[in-house]
Amino acid sequence: MDHRKIAQDKAKILVVDDSPLTLEVLQRNLEEAGYAVFTASSVEQAIAGLEQNLVDLVVTDIKMPKVSGLELLKYVKENLKETEIMIITGYPSVRGAVEAVKDGAEDYLVKPFTDEELLSTVSRLLEKQANRKAVEKKALSENRNIVGNSQAIQRVYRLIDKAAATKVNVLISGESGTGKELAARAIHYGSKAASGPFVTVNCTAIPDNLLESELFGHVKGAFTGAQASRAGFFQIADKGTLFLDEIGDASLNMQGKLLRAIQNKEIFMVGSSRVQKIDTRIIAATNADLTRLVRKGLFREDLYFRLNIVEIVLPPLHERSDDILPLVHFFLEKMSGELERPVPQFSDKVLQIFKKYRWQGNVRELENLVQRLVVLAEDDFIDVADLPEHMRFQIDWQQGLERSLAEVEAEHINNVLNSVKGNKTRAAQILGIDRKTLREKMRRANNFFEAG
Ligand SMILES: Nc1ncnc2c1ncn2[C@@H]1O[C@H](COP(=O)(O)OP(=O)(O)OP(=O)(O)O)[C@@H](O)[C@H]1O
Ligand SMILES: [Mg+2]
Repeated sequence: MDHRKIAQDKAKILVVDDSPLTLEVLQRNLEEAGYAVFTASSVEQAIAGLEQNLVDLVVTDIKMPKVSGLELLKYVKENLKETEIMIITGYPSVRGAVEAVKDGAEDYLVKPFTDEELLSTVSRLLEKQANRKAVEKKALSENRNIVGNSQAIQRVYRLIDKAAATKVNVLISGESGTGKELAARAIHYGSKAASGPFVTVNCTAIPDNLLESELFGHVKGAFTGAQASRAGFFQIADKGTLFLDEIGDASLNMQGKLLRAIQNKEIFMVGSSRVQKIDTRIIAATNADLTRLVRKGLFREDLYFRLNIVEIVLPPLHERSDDILPLVHFFLEKMSGELERPVPQFSDKVLQIFKKYRWQGNVRELENLVQRLVVLAEDDFIDVADLPEHMRFQIDWQQGLERSLAEVEAEHINNVLNSVKGNKTRAAQILGIDRKTLREKMRRANNFFEAG
């Protein structure tokens, strides 16, 4: 193996061939194209070299005197996940090359090939590899974007992992802002289709007259104004994921068209009678209760069963209050990257209120609130007074719900007596009871306060 000084960012290629002449030509061409090139004249030498030095791509001859290039392919596939491999071969072993591709070689070139063929194949492979790495990195970060450790969200994580490991359709339900789209992306980016597209369709937004062409595309001349062929959502999402958001809002017309496509795994472009196979995973999301819509005849039961192979329910935030503090910290951290000043602290009282609050808008509401509080903060401490009024009110209201009738009555009688400076006749009038009853209630109220 020829060790040369290598710039860090150059892609590294190992070329393996028993012919010194071929080695020399390949090396010169690839180096001129800007790659860092190693060479080896046998499989043993190549493997010894690979143990020392990671490369991005191995370009290897198949037919070599002692050990075949197919052995090197096997070695790379088993030991070096990051490394692509490309086969070069003479005509007699084209069949071997095809086998090699089946065994995991990314591509092959048949000798003799031109410099352009070599360089374009190499650059295509390396580009594909770079894309794959970027997607994997994104996938990791997308998964990490789901914050929370509550029992409820852990159940969701397990379902996401299960769904990611398969290609089945998934139905995600949950109130607005609970993270349905986040979960859908985590499934997609955790799946084998991660490098394929993730395409979102908002089922509310498509006018009925455009529906079919939006979903399935149209061919040129299919209708007035169709000047060129155009792909629909199903074609764009091929080999990837089609995310049907707000599926509960899909018209019955749309439901019928979706059902047929999903059931038959094939579609027709508008204006064409040629059938197209589709290879797309469907993830649907809804904040409506689809079973209720089914009962009311507003949602097709057959479509519901097609979508609901794996069902993920995202619980409302107030049912997983253990996630609230981690989420607050996560959003604060996210903001601290964007703000050019230290992020303020939240008082314990505020955090307590957060844990009890109903969060109608769920995680989205929490995220927005944290953002707003931080931006508006005048010093580095955020306390109850900084919270919006309805939140403070809601807390009082909630505490009120935990109180007994006797407690509320006692407090009210006390307040009224205070307001009339202890005048029992006046107080009885306001309360709508006679003085005897008032005296009786006051006695009980005093008992209550003394006991409490
Ligand atoms: N567990 C979580 N960890 C971190 N961020 C979250 C989490 N859940 C939701 N979010 C954030 O909250 C916001 C709303 O999430 P998302 O859009 O996925 O919700 P949704 O259920 O699709 O809402 P809608 O029904 O309104 O479309 C996004 O900014 C998302 O990043
Ligand atoms: Mg959404």
